[in-house]
Amino acid sequence: MTTSSLLTVVLAAGKGTRMKSAKPKVLHAIAGRSMLGHVLATAASLGAGRQAVVIGPDMDAVSAEALRHAPGASIAIQANQLGTADAVLAARETLAAHRGDVLVLYADTPLITEATLRRLIAALDDGANVAVLGFTPDDPAGYGRLVKDGIGDLVAIREEKDASADERKIGLCNSGVMAFRCPDLLGILDRIGNTNAKGEYYLTDAVEVARASHLRARVVEGEADEVLGVNSRVQLAEAEAVFQRRARFSAMEEGVTMIAPDTVFLSHDTKLGRDVVIEPNVFFGPGVTIEDGVVIKANCHIEGADAKVKVGLRVATGAEIGPFARLRPGAEIGRDVHVGNFVEVKNATMEAGSKANHLAYIGDGHVGAKANIGAGTIFCNYDGFNKHRTEVGAGAFVGSNSSLVAPVKIGAGAYVGSGSVITREVEAGALAIERSAQESRPLWAQRFRERMQRRKDRG
Ligand code: UD1
Ligand code: CA
Repeated sequence: MTTSSLLTVVLAAGKGTRMKSAKPKVLHAIAGRSMLGHVLATAASLGAGRQAVVIGPDMDAVSAEALRHAPGASIAIQANQLGTADAVLAARETLAAHRGDVLVLYADTPLITEATLRRLIAALDDGANVAVLGFTPDDPAGYGRLVKDGIGDLVAIREEKDASADERKIGLCNSGVMAFRCPDLLGILDRIGNTNAKGEYYLTDAVEVARASHLRARVVEGEADEVLGVNSRVQLAEAEAVFQRRARFSAMEEGVTMIAPDTVFLSHDTKLGRDVVIEPNVFFGPGVTIEDGVVIKANCHIEGADAKVKVGLRVATGAEIGPFARLRPGAEIGRDVHVGNFVEVKNATMEAGSKANHLAYIGDGHVGAKANIGAGTIFCNYDGFNKHRTEVGAGAFVGSNSSLVAPVKIGAGAYVGSGSVITREVEAGALAIERSAQESRPLWAQRFRERMQRRKDRG
């Protein structure tokens, strides 16, 4: 099978009113990536020659997201939402210029896998002109039913609202994913009418129209949890759960230990090495790479990219993170580094063997190898306008409760006394201490108590 002559058409024009959202439905995310992004990534993995994405009017954000994932895609605008056949026809120009097979995907069906799509396209190689991905849901209500003939060929897809009582008893349903090898697909789509319960142009009617032209239609069956369509926030959460189950399963198959997998949330691009151990309640945002043998203790939040920053995040072999640590975009955690409880690291490198074991903020900085950052140390990186950098040299020791006011440098091997507010460079090997000298008054406490007691006794 060759997919280089394949055109994928992704339908993304639906507003998704049931989502009750300011944002178009297909931009809602599963595991940190939009549903549209998931579908386009899967289509790209097929090696499809061309991609077209059908969007509604005034959907600039959807077209930007489509082009981010599929830079070469043509964007077609469906002016009025007259049904799924009308949506495919919005890409008329691209279809007219295309000579090979056509695969139609719905952007609200994000969990479809490459392997299933390959099986569907293989049905075209086996002689079908139209191949439909079918599935048997627990509850078929709302889905189009697949009507077959005596030899198992597909005769028609009947939308529930148009189905007879007998047709409604059919358990095999339409997932919405269809593949076409029709010399005249545009001709078929143009012949589809809208005389049905919804008054829409149904793509599903392509089956009957094709058969009337003596073309063959076949069903390929897939798993229900791959073709879950997302129309509401509840279904979005269901799709997320399916994705997470798959992602945890494959992480564990590849050598990751999870004590409580159901409490670990992965992103679509989370990379986990062998012998990584993840304790309960850990969340991964996008852009995270964890190398072999890292231990992530309970209750950590780790994200390498957010809506604004997309730099990534890496934790090297042998590091120990948490419990209760937060790693943010641009954190580079070196080999055998310890990042302990209530420590936040952002846009900062911690070189091999350095430690910040408790209660610290390390932002916009560089911590040299084997340096020790004491409890309560803050990198004061922000002056209300700009961010500045803090450099801590190799082997330096920053005493507890120190504020390092950036831009500032602590030289290699230097000591910073506890409680210091460091505003100027500390040279290598020096001690910097910035606090008032300690005063001690012998017997003061006893005299104080006696004086106060006398005052109280006098009334
Ligand atoms: C569709 C199928 C149904 C199938 C079900 C699977 C048709 C007629 N019916 O029904 O057989 O069982 O999916 O989930 O195809 N869209 C547009 N423009 C339009 C209409 C829809 O782009 O004018 C897009 C939507 O954004 C969505 C997809 O097409 O991504 C499917 O449309 P939707 O209205 O959700 O179809 P269903 O009623 O779910
Ligand atoms: Ca739908």
